[in-house]
Amino acid sequence: MSSSAEPYPGNEYDPTLPEDFDSAHRVFAELRARCPVAHSNAFEGFWIVTRYEDVLAILMDPQTYITSVRNVVPGSSTTGRRPPLHLDPPEHTPYRRAIDRALGAARIAAIEPSTRRIAADLMRRLVSLREADFVEEFSSPLPAYVFGEWMGLTEDQTRVLWTTAKVYVKAWEAFDKARVQVASEQLYSLAGELIAERRRAPRDPQVDPTSSLLEARDAEGRPLPDDLLAGCVRQVLVVGLVAPPILLGSIAVHLSRDQALQQQLRSDPSLLPDAIEEFLRLYTPYRGFARTARHEVVLHGRRIRPGEPIALAYASANRDERVFPDPHEFRLRRPNIRQHLAFGRGPHACAGISLARQQLTIGLEELLKQTSHFEVCGEIRMSGMPELGPISVPLRLTPAR
Ligand code: HEM
Repeated sequence: MSSSAEPYPGNEYDPTLPEDFDSAHRVFAELRARCPVAHSNAFEGFWIVTRYEDVLAILMDPQTYITSVRNVVPGSSTTGRRPPLHLDPPEHTPYRRAIDRALGAARIAAIEPSTRRIAADLMRRLVSLREADFVEEFSSPLPAYVFGEWMGLTEDQTRVLWTTAKVYVKAWEAFDKARVQVASEQLYSLAGELIAERRRAPRDPQVDPTSSLLEARDAEGRPLPDDLLAGCVRQVLVVGLVAPPILLGSIAVHLSRDQALQQQLRSDPSLLPDAIEEFLRLYTPYRGFARTARHEVVLHGRRIRPGEPIALAYASANRDERVFPDPHEFRLRRPNIRQHLAFGRGPHACAGISLARQQLTIGLEELLKQTSHFEVCGEIRMSGMPELGPISVPLRLTPAR
């Protein structure tokens, strides 16, 4: 990062242009080489940082780069502050601790049989269709039903969560603010219902995230305020539903293109955890979250003023050739694979890493186990920023014999 600054910038990155499965990565490679801190005029203007070391440095400096102004480009919350993502440490800490408490190793292990049952049932249905949209029928309901288990929702509440979260995500995709607002309010109402139920009948805070948040205290020993508590449960309800469908969709596309790898993973499921880690790097489903600098900063000669959004391109950092040789290649067991930034880093690093790894591995295992072959058989539709990856993957599946 250098110290001299240049005049006000132009439109060096345009995430609103049509994208195919590979094109965003070609654009990022170009930016990493020639313009590592680029300006975009889209979405009322933002900066995007594309090199690994710069993204990591910003994530590890939460004193300078905060999330409480906005944590994502495009958009910011129109319906209130939602911890943990919308708060900076130290206000962020009690919410984060309470969520972490309900995601311990024992809780994750206890959820595994349900995740297997849900994945197996969804996959049986998908395979019986022979041709269907993999995202719609499998990778999108899977995390929603697993979330229903983790959050202790009733069947009805799980159905409401899945249908509302789908509308919410599609409305984001279409930049339809009015529909985003309606869906967000419905999610708030589900969060309110859950909080009221757990106040009446608290559950074990090591098991139930809402009960854990109700038991949490701030630095002065006070309960968390009602509005932020509702915002947090509302945030938690959807935070794990967006990335897994997209990543599993990317994996299905990759394995359609590489049938040898598909067969290798099918015949040796012990390779799956390592394969998932490399897929997380290669097809990082969050293009990036955002930060805002507290004071003016100069990065690679670009002057960034306080208040200007800075998108951290995790998807680009994870294909930075300075850190990952042959970055566009799938390589099982890269020596430095644990350095990838698919789950972020620093105080806001993903709280659901273990839950995510579990459902991704089991989801892929079921896809491979219940088929002898699958391939893409139609048009792949891509998500817009802040995600990166397919939101529709038509698959033709041959059942396992
Ligand atoms: C493929 C799956 C997933 C990916 C790639 C992913 C990625 C991420 C990333 C990159 C962040 C950091 C945001 C930032 O830097 O501002 C994040 C935050 C978070 N994730 Fe995940 N996530 C996944 C699944 C899940 C699941 C299943 C949960 C379930 C509990 C979850 C819960 C959270 C929470 C609560 C935060 C906010 C953390 C904080 O602000 O302290 N995520 N995730």
